[in-house]
Amino acid sequence: MFSPACERNKGPILGMLSRWLPPQASVLEVGSGTGQHAQHFCASIDGLRWQPTELPSNIELLRFLLLQAPQPEGLLEPLALDVRVQPWPKGPFEAVFSANTAHIMPWEAVLALLAGAAGVLAPEGLLFLYGPFSEGGVHSAASNAAFDAELRARDPSMGVRDAQVIQAEAARVGLSLSERLDLPANNQLLIFRNGVGMLER
Ligand SMILES: C[S@@+](CC[C@H](N)C(=O)[O-])C[C@H]1O[C@@H](n2cnc3c(N)ncnc32)[C@H](O)[C@@H]1O
Repeated sequence: MFSPACERNKGPILGMLSRWLPPQASVLEVGSGTGQHAQHFCASIDGLRWQPTELPSNIELLRFLLLQAPQPEGLLEPLALDVRVQPWPKGPFEAVFSANTAHIMPWEAVLALLAGAAGVLAPEGLLFLYGPFSEGGVHSAASNAAFDAELRARDPSMGVRDAQVIQAEAARVGLSLSERLDLPANNQLLIFRNGVGMLER
C-alpha cells in the first residue's frame, strides 16, 4: 500500500503548507489514505501537530501503515472519521487538510467536509483542499477531463468537482476562498479561510 501520486505531490504541497501554516499549527487531515502526506509534512515542518483520519473501514490499515515508517514528532495516533458523521475530532484546529478526496466522495460528503471543517477550525483557520478541479465547468487539461469521465463511469457519485461550485458552498458555511494555487500535474490547492470562526458561530 503505497501511493506513487503522494510521492510526486508531497514536495510541492509541502512548499505551500510551509508558506501558509502558522508556527506550531495543529492540523486535522481528512482521508489520510496511506499516511504518506502525514508522515512527510510532520517530518518536514518543526512544531507541527498532525491528526490523521480515515474512514472507519480503512482506519486499521492506516494505523498499520503509519507504524511501518519512522514516527515523526507531532504525528498523532490516527482517528476514524467519516465526514458525514458527527462528532468530528474536537477542535479547534489551525488547519484542515484533505488531498484527492473531493472527487472520490459523493457530493453530499463534500458538503459535509466543508461544513465539518468550518465547525472545527479556529477563527481565521485554513482549509486546504488539494486535487484536480474544473473551473466554471471547464477542465484545465484533457487528462482531467478523461479522469473525470473514468471516475463517473466507475461510480456516478464520483467526479472531478468544480472549484467555483465548491467556493460557493464553502462561503455558505463561512469559509472564504483565499487562494487557488496551480500545482504540478494539473492539480490545484484551494485555500479557504474561516471567516466567521467557531466561537462566533
Ligand atoms: C484517493 S484517496 C486519497 C488518499 C490520500 N489523501 C492521498 O492523497 O493519497 C481518497 C480518500 O478519501 C477517503 N474518503 C472517501 N470518502 C470519505 C468520507 N466520507 N469521509 C472521510 N474520508 C473519505 C478514502 O477513504 C480515501 O482514503
